[in-house]
Amino acid sequence: QKISVTGIKPTGEPHLGNYIGAIRPALDLASEYQAMYFIADYHALTTLRDPELLRHYTRSVAASWIAAGLDPERTLIYRQSDVPETFELNWVMSCLTGKGLMNRAHAYKAARDRNEEAGRSDLDAGVNMGLFNYPLLMAVDILIMNAEVVPVGKDQVQHVEIAADIAGSFNHVYGAGYRFTVPKPLIPDTDNARTLPGVDGRKMSKSYDNTIPLFIPASKLKKLVRRIPTDSTPVEDPKNADDSSVFQILRQFADEEVVEDTRTRLAAGGVGWGVLKDQLFEILDEQLAPMRERYEALVAPGSELDDILAAGAEKARARAGETLAAVRNAVGI
Ligand code: TYM
Repeated sequence: QKISVTGIKPTGEPHLGNYIGAIRPALDLASEYQAMYFIADYHALTTLRDPELLRHYTRSVAASWIAAGLDPERTLIYRQSDVPETFELNWVMSCLTGKGLMNRAHAYKAARDRNEEAGRSDLDAGVNMGLFNYPLLMAVDILIMNAEVVPVGKDQVQHVEIAADIAGSFNHVYGAGYRFTVPKPLIPDTDNARTLPGVDGRKMSKSYDNTIPLFIPASKLKKLVRRIPTDSTPVEDPKNADDSSVFQILRQFADEEVVEDTRTRLAAGGVGWGVLKDQLFEILDEQLAPMRERYEALVAPGSELDDILAAGAEKARARAGETLAAVRNAVGI
């Protein structure tokens, strides 16, 4: 069976963007692929330096996968840090990866651009080697499992392409001894709306602090939905649904009929943004409330989550160990 792998970085509570861009589509693959999900806790260290918080977010991401429908009996869930083979392979692959490839990665380039805009003479100011090597470690996460597809949101597509490049380099040099599967990104659909906006209208992202966490209590969810910015079109005027962040979120959660009906009602005028926000809240809460209960039980200390992650670690390590042994042999170690 074909393998799919995807990960989430535990730098905050998982949010609606993670759910739409990664969690939901990845779980949809579970019947077609041998699906693997992991929590990229070592990746989080590039920005997160609070050990308690890292532990909490790691648990929170794991609990979210399961609350959202991952069946740990059938699919693998593990922490990146529980697979130390990753870091040995990381070195091997770093020796085959051109520095220029990392120079071109979006996140690194964005950091340099910010320094340039701020007029700093050192364009690498504030960039640690973890950030620079981030795409390499991500490539290894994917390659060590020999994943064929990687379900991710649009912002991660370049990283999967980099992983494919690195696999190609290895296969070119050592292909006689071992060949990696060359992975492909799997983006939910080509629709732009799949990059979900956050409560300030920009892309929903933990680094912008504009997220709507998946499993907050209903009252907080309502408050955050109310904060999504809208334009000042008067209630009675016609509105273009697709220009609105509220609608962009709604359309990812509502049935097709409801989406079309809402679009028509907005275009007709007479519906204010407040009404649309209440509708969005109702739709979200209806879907998330049952998952929220399961999440809360799992995230609590001493829950069955520890056993689930321990079992996942064992299976993930076994698979990664096979890849690493073959690689060591192929490169002459
Ligand atoms: P992270 O934690 O930033 O995001 C996890 C997943 O959620 C998607 N996503 C979104 N999709 C739609 N709209 C949004 N607003 C939105 N925000 C986030 C992301 O595209 C991603 O799929 N580098 C990864 C973690 C990682 C990984 C891997 C992923 C490490 N190793 C190997 C796949 C395979 C990351 O930072 O994701």
